Amino acid sequence: MQHDVTATPGNNEDATRRYYESGDVDAFYDTVWGGEDIHTGIYTDANEPIADASRRTVDRLADRFEGILAPGASVLDLGSGYGGTARHLASRFGCRVVALNLSAAQNERHRRTNAERGLGEQIEVVTGSFHEVPFEDGTFDAVCSLEALCHSDDRAKALGEAVRVLKPGGALAFTDIMAAEGVPEDVLHPAVSRLGMPALATPSFYLRRLGELGLDAIEFDEHSGELITHYVRLTEETTRREKELYEVISPGYVDGLLKNLPLWTAAARASQLRWGIVSGRRPV
Ligand SMILES: C[S@@+](CC[C@H](N)C(=O)[O-])C[C@H]1O[C@@H](n2cnc3c(N)ncnc32)[C@H](O)[C@@H]1O
Repeated sequence: MQHDVTATPGNNEDATRRYYESGDVDAFYDTVWGGEDIHTGIYTDANEPIADASRRTVDRLADRFEGILAPGASVLDLGSGYGGTARHLASRFGCRVVALNLSAAQNERHRRTNAERGLGEQIEVVTGSFHEVPFEDGTFDAVCSLEALCHSDDRAKALGEAVRVLKPGGALAFTDIMAAEGVPEDVLHPAVSRLGMPALATPSFYLRRLGELGLDAIEFDEHSGELITHYVRLTEETTRREKELYEVISPGYVDGLLKNLPLWTAAARASQLRWGIVSGRRPV
């Protein structure tokens, strides 16, 4: 079955596609994060490589799928980036993975890496939007998303889609960068605007929405402190590799990063941001 759906404009999709398909952004994520994962890490110490900590986040999220994912079961990853999560889930559980992502450029690279690692049959990469998931109700045993919902300006719809395609008894788990309750939008705007994102969601918005969608066992496993370590590490790595980055990224973009990343660190230190794993189960 060939799934290649062109997402409808709106919901911030055009801005997101432009952002991820810019050569500068791609080179930054590839060089500084390691080309597998693009999300906040869970660190064992303040000097740990970003790629190792980012992988730990996937593993912690995957713990929510123990007893659900196994050979014969399937999971949908919403906003799948370079495919690090999809490959990890496929390898850990032996399950089938469908990776849905807006960026055709990232998807091409994702398919290539899967084929190189012998995972091309187990992982299907689909170009499309999580605002209109191109699968029938009750298709998947689990649905996950790592730091992709922050790009949506209709998160209620995206979560509705995530729950719609879950089988009864299935599990949903996602991470996202969120705003702390009551922090005015304009306070975070200077940091958030580099990524072309709308205002961030709050944990209470997500927890309320999952309740409205009828999920059970709703939890927020909070690790907001990781944001400080993560943005300090990103700033350190970008600074340390500044010369190397100038070879692959335009100087203006590197300078913009070096100004923008500390804004995230400052917002995290001021407790204006929240982060962690949100999860729930669809009742049987
Ligand atoms: C920060 S990256 C995270 C990528 C991946 N989940 C990871 O953790 O490595 C955000 C991803 O969300 C995707 N994305 C954003 N909006 C989307 C949408 N409406 N539908 C599908 N994917 C979307 C982007 O293309 C990008 O790959």
